[in-house]
Amino acid sequence: MTKLSRRDALRLFGISATSLAATAACSRIATSDIHVAPSSTPLPGLILTKRIPASGETIPVIGMGTWQTFDVGPAPAERQPLESVLAEFSAAGGKLVDSSPMYGQSEEVLGDLSAKLHLRPKLFIATKVWTEGKADGVRQMEESMRKLQADPIDLMQVHNLVDVNTHLDTLTEWKSKGRVRYVGVTHYTASAYDAVAQVLTARKLDFLQINYSINEREAEQRLLPLAMERGVAVIANRPFAGGNLFSRLRSQPLPSWAKEIDCESWAQVLLKFVISHPAITCAIPATSNVNHLKDNMRAAFGRLPDAELRTRMAADLSRY
Ligand SMILES: NC(=O)c1ccc[n+]([C@@H]2O[C@H](COP(=O)([O-])OP(=O)(O)OC[C@H]3O[C@@H](n4cnc5c(N)ncnc54)[C@H](OP(=O)(O)O)[C@@H]3O)[C@@H](O)[C@H]2O)c1
Repeated sequence: MTKLSRRDALRLFGISATSLAATAACSRIATSDIHVAPSSTPLPGLILTKRIPASGETIPVIGMGTWQTFDVGPAPAERQPLESVLAEFSAAGGKLVDSSPMYGQSEEVLGDLSAKLHLRPKLFIATKVWTEGKADGVRQMEESMRKLQADPIDLMQVHNLVDVNTHLDTLTEWKSKGRVRYVGVTHYTASAYDAVAQVLTARKLDFLQINYSINEREAEQRLLPLAMERGVAVIANRPFAGGNLFSRLRSQPLPSWAKEIDCESWAQVLLKFVISHPAITCAIPATSNVNHLKDNMRAAFGRLPDAELRTRMAADLSRY
């Protein structure tokens, strides 16, 4: 493997000298466009962020999903744990929260809690359109903005490519009027990658959201290189494969290399694998457990694996 000089690495990865100095311990940086921004809580060092290619704006590498976790009723007992999760997420420096009209009450719960905690200006709200036809799409997106108490929405994505061209036409117009800041598409399964690649090639997108985890790596073949080539930010959904990975790993001790990338848990190992891919902008693990949230947010700090360690991580974990 060719060794880069420090100067070459800075130029290639777009890392400022100041931010690199701030993460002097960060000897295993593998990603392009890694930056650091101040954290508001006493987490180790500075939170890692990456650039959205369409604008240059940076977002933290760990966001949060809301599927199932935020789909609760109005009772205080149901909402309180999620209020703690959202408060801790923001206190740790988190910004991007992903929802969908497909996720039951999640949009409304996220909107209510972010208003209660006065967090709207600090969050990057992403949701989706998941219906057919222009008129229904407009109605649903306006309803989402009302429920999320977010106008404009930071990112509107076409969920699972449903009536994708119709909604992308609407969203192109909405973006020009400032009703949405960014536009994207989502999917969650490798069987849809051909269709996703077609949209990525034919349309101008700001974001792609796709499944990517240490044991769902098919996106590496075509979609992730295509996203980089097209200047599209990538959100990794299902970074824990929906939680399935924990049932295999829970009983295993952390490998010795976990210390080299400042990981204290399997969740951090799994998230650091995902966010260290050069095409991935952020991962959006979902949790309704505040201790899991704190655990996940620590993956946005410290060292990341380089290409060599990523290979070793995948090989080691395939044995469990
Ligand atoms: N088509 C699409 O657009 C699409 C499809 C799938 C997902 N998504 C988005 O991606 C998000 C994430 O995907 P996902 O929710 O399917 O799966 P995931 O984030 O891979 O896994 C969630 C599971 O992991 C558990 N978990 C979280 N943190 C943990 C920790 N530190 N330790 C142990 N367990 C932990 C959660 O349980 P606890 O609550 O107990 O922590 C939950 O069971 C979704 O919420 C959604 O926003 C989008």
